[in-house]
Amino acid sequence: MNLYIHTIGCQMNVYDSEQIALRLQAMGYQQTDRQGNADLILLNTCAIRDKAEQKVFSYLGRLAELKAQKPSLIIGVGGCVAQQEGRKILSRVPFVDLVFGTRSLDRLPALIHTVQAGKGPVVDVDMTDTLGGLAAAIPESAQAGICRFVTVMRGCDNYCNYCVVPYVRGAETSRAPQTIIDEIQGLANAGVREVTLLGQNVNSYGKKEGFCDFAELLERVSHIDGICRIRFTTSHPKDLSDRLITTFADLEKLCHHIHLPVQAGSDTVLRRMNRKYTRDAYLERIRRIRAACPGIAVTSDFIVGFPGETDDDFQQTLDLIRTVGYDGLFAFKYSDRPLAPAAKFPEKVSEAVKKDRLGQLLALQEKNTFRRNGDLVGTVQTVLVERRGRRLPALEGEGDPWTGRTSGNKVVNFIWDVRGGAGTEPAPGRLVDVTIQRALAHSLWGMPVTGTESTAPGEVDAACGSFAQKMAG
Ligand code: 5AD
Ligand code: SF4
Repeated sequence: MNLYIHTIGCQMNVYDSEQIALRLQAMGYQQTDRQGNADLILLNTCAIRDKAEQKVFSYLGRLAELKAQKPSLIIGVGGCVAQQEGRKILSRVPFVDLVFGTRSLDRLPALIHTVQAGKGPVVDVDMTDTLGGLAAAIPESAQAGICRFVTVMRGCDNYCNYCVVPYVRGAETSRAPQTIIDEIQGLANAGVREVTLLGQNVNSYGKKEGFCDFAELLERVSHIDGICRIRFTTSHPKDLSDRLITTFADLEKLCHHIHLPVQAGSDTVLRRMNRKYTRDAYLERIRRIRAACPGIAVTSDFIVGFPGETDDDFQQTLDLIRTVGYDGLFAFKYSDRPLAPAAKFPEKVSEAVKKDRLGQLLALQEKNTFRRNGDLVGTVQTVLVERRGRRLPALEGEGDPWTGRTSGNKVVNFIWDVRGGAGTEPAPGRLVDVTIQRALAHSLWGMPVTGTESTAPGEVDAACGSFAQKMAG
């Protein structure tokens, strides 16, 4: 039997979809990348913004024909939109067989059995999951890849006024540290070299449960042999502790990149968003991070056109972007989420103004990104090789490029063959020192350091050490 999963939205959904696929293998489902071959199609949905939600229903609309041709095809809708809409999905899209919420993953095989037995459609949007009760499934080496996400906590207790997450993903719940360590050890054994720990607000990791704190979790992960790089996302600025900041300097394997969403640069807007920090407090956090870890890449999220946002408020956002000098950012036009309080706020900003502000913000950041990338020209960066890159017509005859990322999460392309001297050809999972030669809008080009070796996975721990010293120097 063939399984096709379509994932919309964030990295957490990517992780959940991987876990679903691995668990359904035990039921005899093989993943296929051709929808037409599928016996089971699962749609993992996102409700964070209006657009993501619209995508779900247009995607389902396109499945109508397939279902008509093959009535035995099972169609399931999971994730945040499923949690938000529940049974209403069945009245809107009658051919859906299964609706499962954000905390039903452990029950999914049983739900599918029910549908297979002809007892569908079924709806399970119960929020009382057995999180952490089941060990995470580990992929086989051939499918594992080099970089993977690992969810360490789910849900959010922050209730930002624009955000649907606390309503559709529930209260903050952390996984027990040992289950996380076991999972990452399994991934390392399967060849994974980089893990990104995921949570809506990793800074509150373990607090409710009385587990270790997030900084200690990072340290425990850093002792896992074979894991060379650790990243995490997301940290809420109000909770970003000094202890976590110093971890950037202390832990060699922790990548020099922080994603610290600020959302807006005006105190009035921040207050109305219920973000619980001021612009100055945010800038102070940034100063401390940079003092602890010079050169660290900083990225953020922004919302433009939050209800009541004036031109002056928006200018303060642009000013904050200039002050921080981000390496990159994600920016979104505010959209009402029916379950979130801001949906009822007056003084809505018009679509035209939102569009204009988004354009201005992105144009400003484009220059920043280019400048920050340009700062790296002439430096040597250690690149974790992920795969073969796309061959560029201008480089015909030069060999295929390799693609990987720096510690600061910047994509670097390089051609191995043009480098002087001997050395083992790179492969996914190896580390290569690359001199950055050119900065493009969204990536860098470089040349492997003359005579350099690419570092084998077995030598990874030592190589990470030398990388950290280089950064410190
Ligand atoms: N409208 C627009 N953007 C939103 N985000 C969250 N909720 C909304 C909304 N209602 C953005 C925030 C958050 C990111 C994941 O999505 O910037 O950090
Ligand atoms: Fe949403 Fe705020 Fe929680 Fe982030 S911290 S998930 S924006 S409520």
